Amino acid sequence: MKPISLIQFLIEERRAGHINAELSLLIEVVARACKRIAVATNKGALGGVLGMAGDGALSMNVQGEAQKKLDVISNEILLEANAWGGHLAACASEEMEDPQQIPDGYPKGNHLLLFDPLDGSSNIDVNVSVGTIFSVLRCPDGVTEAKAADFLQPGTTQLAAGYVVYGPATVLVLTFGHGTHEFTLEREVGSFMLSRRNIRIPEETSEFAVNMSNQRHWQAPMQRYIGELLAGTEGPRGRDFNMRWVASMVADVHRIVTRGGVFYYPLDAKILQQGGKLRLMYEANPMAFIIEQAGGAATTGRERIMALQPTALHQRVPVFLGSRSEVEVVTRYHLDADAAQG
Ligand code: AHG
Repeated sequence: MKPISLIQFLIEERRAGHINAELSLLIEVVARACKRIAVATNKGALGGVLGMAGDGALSMNVQGEAQKKLDVISNEILLEANAWGGHLAACASEEMEDPQQIPDGYPKGNHLLLFDPLDGSSNIDVNVSVGTIFSVLRCPDGVTEAKAADFLQPGTTQLAAGYVVYGPATVLVLTFGHGTHEFTLEREVGSFMLSRRNIRIPEETSEFAVNMSNQRHWQAPMQRYIGELLAGTEGPRGRDFNMRWVASMVADVHRIVTRGGVFYYPLDAKILQQGGKLRLMYEANPMAFIIEQAGGAATTGRERIMALQPTALHQRVPVFLGSRSEVEVVTRYHLDADAAQG
């Protein structure tokens, strides 16, 4: 069968009534911006894009995290690409405290875009996969200047979600709520080509991803669960489990979307006050949408991630996602522990 491009796929989705022209344009623009981020990422040391942002003084983002040059470059590429098309009401980013309005003089659209421009930035300088994550919401009716409160919609209302992983190949994974699909960038032509349609994540898995160095800080249900996996064939699970941790959520999620597995960033004593490590609006929600649309599950250990009512633009949550059967076990352990406590 002749391979189809992202543009052809978007036209098909419009004909099927899954998206409108404005959302189709939005995805085209984001994909084009991500191609530019891929080019910048690929240049590495030769492009002067490695290392920390800021001239001498360390540059920090709204989360209090030190910014890398590529974090700032990727954020600017996405903002600039999305300013003039007329498809957005506003956008919000991990790298900015408040939503960015569409500059005066450009038409406004009905969509809100949220993104983590360069996820896994601790991996940039060591040439390990990084990525972009994005989520699209509808701008509430009657809103002319979208504020943070207008973005605070549950993940179930997302119109689209996707990520791009800048790895050995540049790969876009996308959902509009009608399955999860993968596109691979054909560099010579400059087009994303459909490489997998309607991805299905195996229900069962023996592979987990978690930062084990945090183990001593975890809560009791997580200690119990991982203890059982590590006990392998001699333990209650009766089989061996394998572990992988890239420390780029996009890369770890892409492995799950490719061969199954689970990814966990649980609550631990060090991050109790902030509610978790990963951000709900532009990391957990879009990944949860992609995973659910591929047959997997995504919870906070207690609740479905996409059902949460967000309370802040940069809110953090615990994340448990991937192959359905394992996510159900770890979620049950949390709920059982809560019930036992009364
Ligand atoms: P950031 O957006 O700041 O690069 O965060 C990366 C996230 C996620 O991609 C990854 O899974 C996790 O942080 C890694 O955390 P640890 O450094 O604690 O392993």
